[in-house]
Amino acid sequence: MEEMPARRRLVLVPAPAQGHISPMMQLAKDLHLKGFSITIAQTKFSYFSPTDDFTDFQFVTIPESLPESDQKNLGPVLFMLKLNKECQVSFKDFLGQLLLQQSNDISCVIYDEFMYFAEAAAKEFKLPNVIFCTTSATAFVCRSVFDKLYANNVLAPLKDELVPELYPLRYKDFPVSRFSSLESIMEMYRNTIDKRTASCVIINTASYLESSSLSCLQQQKLKIPVYPIGPRHMVATASTSLLEENKSCIEWLNKQNVNSVIYISLGSLALVDINEVMEMARGLAASNQQFLWVIRPGSIRGSEWIETLSEEFSKMVSERGYIVKWAPQKEVLAHPAVGGFWSHCGWNSTLESLGEGIPMICRPFSSDQKVNARHLECVWRIGIQVEGELEKGAVERAVKWLMEDEEGEEMRKRAVTLKEKLTASVRSGGSSHNSLEEFAHFMRTL
Ligand code: UDX
Repeated sequence: MEEMPARRRLVLVPAPAQGHISPMMQLAKDLHLKGFSITIAQTKFSYFSPTDDFTDFQFVTIPESLPESDQKNLGPVLFMLKLNKECQVSFKDFLGQLLLQQSNDISCVIYDEFMYFAEAAAKEFKLPNVIFCTTSATAFVCRSVFDKLYANNVLAPLKDELVPELYPLRYKDFPVSRFSSLESIMEMYRNTIDKRTASCVIINTASYLESSSLSCLQQQKLKIPVYPIGPRHMVATASTSLLEENKSCIEWLNKQNVNSVIYISLGSLALVDINEVMEMARGLAASNQQFLWVIRPGSIRGSEWIETLSEEFSKMVSERGYIVKWAPQKEVLAHPAVGGFWSHCGWNSTLESLGEGIPMICRPFSSDQKVNARHLECVWRIGIQVEGELEKGAVERAVKWLMEDEEGEEMRKRAVTLKEKLTASVRSGGSSHNSLEEFAHFMRTL
């Protein structure tokens, strides 16, 4: 009888944020099913506690001594820069110990694009390493041209104009944040686009969605194999949520008509001002549509949750709305009652909406969200963007347009076609399925 080959161990290093942990854990599960042993190396920040779905995995904590408060107080860019510096040395020692513990049986380190400290450690031990891009291929391309634009100082002055090499993106769609200095963003981007010694790059996208950005990366920017293996959530079954999901909203959805509810969620990091929340509530109430609204605790500046909001707010949301702190988002988007998604356009939310054929109202905040929103509106044409200061009238118009108008219906049809394409891409024989097979084969040859 042919002997089964020993399982080869992969060390996966997710970035500490919900939108990065989910795709990494989904990938880990896929690779485990393909015969690899998995070690998940996390820091204490946004720690994903193993659930029953991941019992065969080894979970380890990378030692570092940053204060707990840094993640909240520094903002994402400065925090990630500091975390990378902090772990640069500690991860080398740590990986050395892991190798001893595993009798040198580690075949590769796969790290989130924002955890680039892992590369130096892998190099030290001559271990192959792979970058996992958990944002879009287009965001990666943007980061790589950012350097040139920054040097020529054209980002701010030309903000409404199109970037010649990145149609249909405008300068103002660049992945920057008003809460981080351009210098710190630049430092971050230089590190995330630097492939250094990586053997290949895997991206949570499908070739159908981003073919030109993917070929640009493959042929011009990276010149190492690029595997578009997503959207991974479409084949995932295990929950990867860091927060407890309030499932009561599914019972509420069960009582609503088909395509009658707009789902609102601004992801795991975005912060909003109270007046913006009030204008949204006013616009939603005026639209006369049913809505399911995720308001994450701590996401409204100056308020713990919604307790401190005025009575006007409670009145406006009580008739047609249902509010939760955190929802089972994939289940919500798959529910027949949901006909539209008001989103901050994080890459996971974008993929999850595309994967369920749900058209979107796009209200991006920072980083890659503006890039995704622009693609939703101008490339895939299944979203409309609400720009500028948020006021009741704009909210009402956008919601009615999406949920009642003919144009909204057209977007819904296009979204369903996209869903079919994406479903095919992750099925046996589809492009992302084949890409993952190729990647796994490549891992076995290391
Ligand atoms: C961050 C960045 O903001 C984003 O731009 C980048 O692409 C990924 O990292 P985040 O704010 O977490 O993203 O948004 P997103 O990428 O959309 O991920 C949020 C995840 O949380 C999604 O998988 C979504 O399903 C989940 N979620 C959100 C829930 O499970 N329940 C909720 O109530 C809200």
